[in-house]
Amino acid sequence: MKNLEKNENVWTRYWSKGVINSCFYDDPSGNYGGEIKNFWVSVVERLSDKASMLDLCTGNGALISLVMSLEQSEGFDKYVGVDLASIQPIWLDKVEAEAKSKIKMLGNTAIEELPVSDSEFSLVVSQFGVEYCEIEGVIHQVERVLKNNGVFAAVIHHKESLIVKNAVEEKAHLDYLLTSETVKSTIEIMLGYMAKLKNKQNLKKIQADADANKAKLQFNSQVDELTKRAKASHCPDVIYELLDIVMLSFKAAQNEGLKFAKGTINNFWSELRDSRVRLENLINASLTESEIQNLIDKLHSNGLSEGSVVKLKESNQLLAWGLSAKKVKK
Ligand SMILES: C[S@@+](CC[C@H](N)C(=O)[O-])C[C@H]1O[C@@H](n2cnc3c(N)ncnc32)[C@H](O)[C@@H]1O
Repeated sequence: MKNLEKNENVWTRYWSKGVINSCFYDDPSGNYGGEIKNFWVSVVERLSDKASMLDLCTGNGALISLVMSLEQSEGFDKYVGVDLASIQPIWLDKVEAEAKSKIKMLGNTAIEELPVSDSEFSLVVSQFGVEYCEIEGVIHQVERVLKNNGVFAAVIHHKESLIVKNAVEEKAHLDYLLTSETVKSTIEIMLGYMAKLKNKQNLKKIQADADANKAKLQFNSQVDELTKRAKASHCPDVIYELLDIVMLSFKAAQNEGLKFAKGTINNFWSELRDSRVRLENLINASLTESEIQNLIDKLHSNGLSEGSVVKLKESNQLLAWGLSAKKVKK
């Protein structure tokens, strides 16, 4: 739909951690809760017992796990999840055999080319998924794979939502951290001195070294600046995570050596670069009021009627669009 950076490897690396959830909004179960969960309850309630569900852009299957946990889905007989990235739904290891036999997870598969039969599903869903894709191709596939009277429902990023606002703020932190050569080089110089401390006899030498003292002062002033930035932010986690990793890598330099410590910090910089791509894609994928209306119109002109959209809110904070439509025989 939008001009998104095509980078399924970023998502593959993300899902390889085994996490279930891609967003900043969850309940203690680690999955989506609150109004997002309530939206899915209302969708599932509308279906008959023997429903079969296809989850587009499933990631590690957060939505499949959520729907399966609802008492309203007791009679569902099939769940298929599709994602372009390689996925690692390790939560499936804990699902008992009978329930597990109903689930099929297809990674490395584009939803624009679904390897499923026509009219195979009574429910096609997506949670923070279809807005990342080429929407015309997706609508064609949704119409093709839905049974007559089948339901399409999606939770979609809202341009004005708290999730998107937080993403904009966090991306600004990442832009700052990833482009600041001073932050990177100060950490690197300090790592060199920390590694020398592996030999305790170097301590006095370093304490008396003018360059080392200059580096320490510069490092402390960087930490002060980052802490100030974090304190002024609604979502400072990424800054605090960096500060934690830096301290860990300093310890690692003294205990395991410089190579290991540099590896730790470099891995973190790679994670931050991936995170930046995901946030940028999220922001670009989110839809305005007129864009969601346009999507409803497209659904209508492609055989999906009764389209409706609601704003999902919690504590007066906007979270996402909740969209649903139905395939009705022409
Ligand atoms: C924000 S994540 C959402 C994952 C999951 N639905 C959830 O709620 O946790 C978006 C997912 O869309 C997938 N994706 C993007 N474009 C795709 C495409 N054309 N076909 C299939 N999956 C795609 C990405 O790989 C990523 O896993």
